[in-house]
Amino acid sequence: MKKASVKKTGVKKAGVKKAGVNTDTARPAARSVGIADLTERQAATELKALAVEISRHDAAYHGEDAPTITDAAYDSLRKRNEAIEKRFPGLKRADSPSKKVGAASATGFNKLRHTVPMLSLGNAFTDEDVKDFIERLRRFLDLDADETVEMTAEPKIDGLSFSARYENGRLAVAATRGDGAEGEDITANLRTIKNMPGFLMGEVPKVIEIRGEVYMTKADFAALNAAQGTKGGKVFANPRNAAAGSLRQIDPSITAARPLKAFTYGWGEVKGMDWKTQWDFLQSLKAWGFSVNPRARLCSSLSGMLKEYRKLGEDRAALAYDIDGMVYKVNRLDLQRRLGFVSRAPRWAIAHKYSAERAETVVESIEVQVGRTGTLTPVARLRPVNVGGVVVSNATLHNEDEIARKDIRAGDTVVIQRAGDVIPQVIEVLMAKRPRDSTPYRFPDKCPACGSRAVREEGEVACRCTGGLICPAQAVERLKHFVSRNAFDIEGIGEKNITGFFEDKLIESPADLFTLERRAGRAKLTAREGWAEKSIDNLFAAIEQRRAISLERVIYGLGIRQVGQATARLLAQAYGSFGAWRKAMIAAKDKDSETYRELINIEQIGESVADDLVAFFAEKRNGAILEALARELTVADFDQPDASGSPIAGKTVVFTGTLEAMSRGEAKARAQSLGAKVAGSVSRKTDLVVAGFGAGSKLKEAAGLGVKVLTEQEYLTLIGGK
Ligand code: IVH
Repeated sequence: MKKASVKKTGVKKAGVKKAGVNTDTARPAARSVGIADLTERQAATELKALAVEISRHDAAYHGEDAPTITDAAYDSLRKRNEAIEKRFPGLKRADSPSKKVGAASATGFNKLRHTVPMLSLGNAFTDEDVKDFIERLRRFLDLDADETVEMTAEPKIDGLSFSARYENGRLAVAATRGDGAEGEDITANLRTIKNMPGFLMGEVPKVIEIRGEVYMTKADFAALNAAQGTKGGKVFANPRNAAAGSLRQIDPSITAARPLKAFTYGWGEVKGMDWKTQWDFLQSLKAWGFSVNPRARLCSSLSGMLKEYRKLGEDRAALAYDIDGMVYKVNRLDLQRRLGFVSRAPRWAIAHKYSAERAETVVESIEVQVGRTGTLTPVARLRPVNVGGVVVSNATLHNEDEIARKDIRAGDTVVIQRAGDVIPQVIEVLMAKRPRDSTPYRFPDKCPACGSRAVREEGEVACRCTGGLICPAQAVERLKHFVSRNAFDIEGIGEKNITGFFEDKLIESPADLFTLERRAGRAKLTAREGWAEKSIDNLFAAIEQRRAISLERVIYGLGIRQVGQATARLLAQAYGSFGAWRKAMIAAKDKDSETYRELINIEQIGESVADDLVAFFAEKRNGAILEALARELTVADFDQPDASGSPIAGKTVVFTGTLEAMSRGEAKARAQSLGAKVAGSVSRKTDLVVAGFGAGSKLKEAAGLGVKVLTEQEYLTLIGGK
């Protein structure tokens, strides 16, 4: 990578944008004629149309982080283009998509020229395609039938590729792929990624360009989107777009605040070192301090490769991050060198793709749900459709602006996408299939549950019901939150029961749970459908068990806007007791008071959270709820962590699988109180993985990284009932 004559790309931006916006409605070229039947004239016309269409999709994908067609449709366009060129080599155009990789940069970054071009990969969609690929390369190398070719099988990470140049072991400069020849200078941004070393460990080459993929985990993506939604920021369509959007920020402090990670797998220019195999190179990457995907394998046969492909496919949904295939690479570098490149891709590697977890279906209606703090969230009710093995019948539409931007209407045929745990999303409306009589969706100006006015505060994307405590939908959602796992964790009272109890006025506010037995007695409950003596016993016992509860669970359980588990813990830690906390929150109403200043001084609690706390306490009925709770509960004072002598103080712990003796939330809290950091995914920084029942991919990752794994029982023994 070399700095190109500091060239900003602002001019290109307008052109790319226009192309991207129009793709939704663009008419695809007629592709009904089989390739064998094409006349030379038809072929020339189609190649021209394909060049325009593919470059437009490239621009939308790479330039704007906003793909406008499915990956499968895009791949089939490229495949057809290549097949026509194969039949009519003389018609290959100067602007043929087969000569290009992606689009030129479209933002205001400086450009960097790649010393060694960043190429792409050929695709295989079936086992047969992989077999052909192996046969092709064996023929090319003229190998005897009994000679095996070892191949690596590496997950194909669905992120954003980068090249990072290290000089004498120090990160010097980094770029995105761009069009393969020239990318954008993202040095400052890449430096903010925690698992990208600034300095390499051990023996290092004089110069090495490391190539890999920046990505965001599915969980981090969901959390980022939720936070963006509340802040009125950009909501991303999928983790890849979120990673790309976060990496390509002019201000690196924004990138730093985003949960980006990187996996590395390749190299560009190298001076002063070499390897014999791809596998050895992957080991060097780890030794230097990079993250290498723990699912990479070395295979010695086609059947071995296909087995790994299928195993990874089975685990795909459970992986923490999105993958879209398996990349097979010839392991021996001397063979790689002999094989070389063809067009835009190496002959020694291929990407075996998984079918995209996307599907087409119809939006039957658009409904608005009311959340516990009054946020109105539009939801598309879909004609049920199977997406990657899961039947999907709802998709989130995020907010009013998102519906308007995509112009989603009832009756529309849409492409939906499901990525692991992420709530299904509508990716695109298929305009050609829109019914003639369709009308744009109008967002309600009243709460669908209580009829109160719905308003949008300035600068916010979320529309809120102003009904507050009179809104039954909000009340039910608050109750559901109160009994949920990380709050009061009351077993035996599911979401459905809460709604039923609320409608029958048996439980209207949290404290009612604790007076239920006194007020309603057994008779009233046994009369209800589905409630046998035994389940009533269990419910009452579960409620009784929670009368004695920790302060942080109570604070979290109240469902105050912006007060999640972490904030609840901070508050509990800061105020110590239920009484002291309540007193302080009431006194904090006066913004000039010492109490208010103390509140906003707590690390990670800003004015916005403080204002929501004050607003909650200013509401008379909330005061009454707290009074009633105080009468019923025994709230334990916050247990200040005494990390001295703790065997896990300062260690990073990951919990996985189902734990028996405690909930995940509790396990986390206990570990934190013993001075440990709790992480969601396994990395080199993990010291300990605690594996419960049914633990899967994290366990394998731990094994791959050599991280210590304990059963729940062993862990409990280690912390010695602390
Ligand atoms: S190897 C010569 N390995 O997929 C190109 N690529 O569709 C060598 N990718 O451009 C690429 N995971 O951005 C390789 N384990 C992996 C990968 C991977 C993701 C991306 C990469 C590449 C694209 C090709």
